[in-house]
Amino acid sequence: MQTVLITGGTGMIGRSLTTMFLEKGYQVIVLTRKQKRTHRKNLSFAKWDIDKGEIDLEAVNKADMIVHLAGEGVADKRWTVKRKQAIVDSRVQSGNLLVKVLSENKNKVKTFISASAIGWYGPDTINSLKDGFAETDPADNSYLGNTCQQWEQSTATIGKMGIRLVTLRIGIVFNNKGGALAEFLKPAKFGLATILGNGKQIVSWIHYKDLCRMIVFAIETPAIQGTYNAVAPQPVTNKKLVLTIAKNKYPIYFPSFVPAFLLKIILGEMSVEVLKSVNISAQKIQVAGFLFDYPTVEEALIDLMK
Ligand SMILES: NC(=O)c1ccc[n+]([C@@H]2O[C@H](COP(=O)([O-])OP(=O)(O)OC[C@H]3O[C@@H](n4cnc5c(N)ncnc54)[C@H](OP(=O)(O)O)[C@@H]3O)[C@@H](O)[C@H]2O)c1
Repeated sequence: MQTVLITGGTGMIGRSLTTMFLEKGYQVIVLTRKQKRTHRKNLSFAKWDIDKGEIDLEAVNKADMIVHLAGEGVADKRWTVKRKQAIVDSRVQSGNLLVKVLSENKNKVKTFISASAIGWYGPDTINSLKDGFAETDPADNSYLGNTCQQWEQSTATIGKMGIRLVTLRIGIVFNNKGGALAEFLKPAKFGLATILGNGKQIVSWIHYKDLCRMIVFAIETPAIQGTYNAVAPQPVTNKKLVLTIAKNKYPIYFPSFVPAFLLKIILGEMSVEVLKSVNISAQKIQVAGFLFDYPTVEEALIDLMK
């Protein structure tokens, strides 16, 4: 039985991924900051303390592969200077610690999958649904662009240790248990379809089940190596997304607009990301053989809102 160690396995993506790995017959160890217990078969928890540089070595020694998802929630709180630093540090320091442990200790890890994000890319200025950003495009010179660059850099040397390194630049994950979709659903509860800014900005998203399947696919496909965008092949404008959500929720709804200036007041600097248009290409992972179960936002929302 293969053992996968998941950092951040208690989070929104990690919980679904854990279930998927268990169903596929893997042994799962979740690396977490808090001591936890479980009665689920083939699942256990191990502790790490990134600030102190401590990690459960026994857990690392058992791992055949690592999926690294840990990091402070990017959109959970307002971006103060302190918060922005915590977002960077939690990713860079955890990546550095994993590199240190893998380089200093004999281990049997064959594959390392690391999360990154589409925040790597800058805004596309033409709002075109064709020709999205590819993995070879440079990082944007912005807070999120620089964060993603440092995040990816923190684990880059793992690829030179004889371990297959795969980095997934994850899009906005749609999940019915939280995350971005829950925020979009809040106004829909009142029959409102709340379009952000002018609504023309492109949202590059992915259904959480496709993301988890993509992580498993990356683990199980030896030819997959390097950086891949983890987004659905059909991005959508904010307006279409909001109207599709509203249609799925209520037969009658009222479109409304939240102007950009108001978003800036409500969200602060984070509003830049909400208003940013980013069209990201899924071509590389598709060419590698990955098939999406939810390529369109309509299919994804029908599944998530049923
Ligand atoms: N959800 C999205 O739309 C999305 C989009 C792009 C990229 N991503 C990336 O994918 C990864 C997983 O996303 P998610 O939505 O599942 O995140 P999540 O629900 O916020 O979970 C992240 C996990 O990271 C751990 N964590 C939080 N703060 C930490 C810190 N300071 N130091 C070490 N560990 C910390 C926590 O685990 P413990 O409390 O158990 O330690 C938490 O459960 C994240 O890195 C995220 O940035 C997500």
